Amino acid sequence: PATARPHLDGDISIGRIKLTPLTERFGTPLLVVDEQDVRERCRAFRRAFGDAEVAYAGKAFLCRAMATWIGQEGLSLDVCSAGELAVARAAGFPAERILMHGNAKTPEDLRAALGYGVGTIVVDSFHEISRLAALAAQGARPRLLIRVTPGVDGHTHAAVTTGTDGQKFGFSLASGAAAEAVRRVLAQRHLELAGLHCHIGSQITDPGAFDLAAARMVEFLAELRAAHGTPPRRLDLGGGFGVAYRAGDPELAPGPVAGRLRRTVQDACAAHRLPVPRLTVEPGRAIVAHAGVTVYRVVSVKHGPAGGLLVAVNGGMSDNPRPSLYGARYTARLIGRRGAGGERSATVVGRHCEAGDVIAAGVRLPADVRPGDLLAVPCTGAYHHSMASNYNMVRRPPVVAVRDGRARLIIRRETIDDLMARDLG
Ligand code: LLP
Repeated sequence: PATARPHLDGDISIGRIKLTPLTERFGTPLLVVDEQDVRERCRAFRRAFGDAEVAYAGKAFLCRAMATWIGQEGLSLDVCSAGELAVARAAGFPAERILMHGNAKTPEDLRAALGYGVGTIVVDSFHEISRLAALAAQGARPRLLIRVTPGVDGHTHAAVTTGTDGQKFGFSLASGAAAEAVRRVLAQRHLELAGLHCHIGSQITDPGAFDLAAARMVEFLAELRAAHGTPPRRLDLGGGFGVAYRAGDPELAPGPVAGRLRRTVQDACAAHRLPVPRLTVEPGRAIVAHAGVTVYRVVSVKHGPAGGLLVAVNGGMSDNPRPSLYGARYTARLIGRRGAGGERSATVVGRHCEAGDVIAAGVRLPADVRPGDLLAVPCTGAYHHSMASNYNMVRRPPVVAVRDGRARLIIRRETIDDLMARDLG
């Protein structure tokens, strides 16, 4: 995290708390989240985007504490299931500031959203439009954004590319499906079309891709005005702002991205003589990735054929599936003692029964790294706990929030009893 401080004894501290004593208190693997870092990134996004709405994408990391911080910092919240909505609700998150997403929202999800009075629903299929029209006829009056696929490639991993035609999200702009979706919503007396949405993908580091998507969306607003009179008032440009997992990796800072996006939208609106819509952005990773650091304990060390070390830890793809899913790269460092004997090339591997269970490949670690050592892996706040599994019946790690020298357990470690509770024999 931005606030991590190294100490002479080899430890590091976050939120003015040393990590080694935290592992004695809470065990390992342990996910530590820097509350102040989360709050500062929320503020940076709000400052950068001015009067635009900033909606945190809860899929990156959500629990009651996180929803509370997000709410207190004045952000909105994007949820994509009845489960995420239940967390928001338990934290008392204002319904008006919640958006619900999902390409396959179930009737349960929609009922939960309408029941809680969620402010905005982002529609993603013709079937969903019909379903919402039926529910709305019974009294609910949801405000809708139509999710548009603008045909823009964000040049990110294929698994998180969502702006191109042929993948599962949104109504294609090029095929005319988006225009048809607008017609169908407008034809429903009980539905309110509030605006348009697009999300071109995740971990995007090319700001030009966002500009292109924004310009296409404004062009579409102009087409809608020509076809239907007044254009929708809201334009949600999604999230996807890339972060640097390792020193030297590119990162999109909120300030420059916001400046470019606002200029692009303003220029395109001026060119089409359109009123500037109210913008929304939906950062997830950029809010919480840097705030998280995972601490593992080394279980065994092997020497690879090329002289490299294979350092196995007591976690792995169950708490960090990102290397195996997206080829994501991380760093790792020894904490709690100073290493000796120079550095060696090492691969930090997990405890799971697959050779692809790698946490950090090609990192440098002290040559004397040994069982019992602690390794810290930074930048593990986003899409780690939220994607954690019980593969191999491994228990999910706890999450500890640190701030101003204090640590608070916000998600406890899973127990074997938790794991067994659903097995009815
Ligand atoms: N809005 C929508 C509609 C989304 O689908 C997403 C992410 C976001 C916003 C937030 O994107 P972000 O700012 O966090 O990039 N598990 C993958 C990432 C999946 C992203 C899913 N949608 C990973 O670990 O890289």
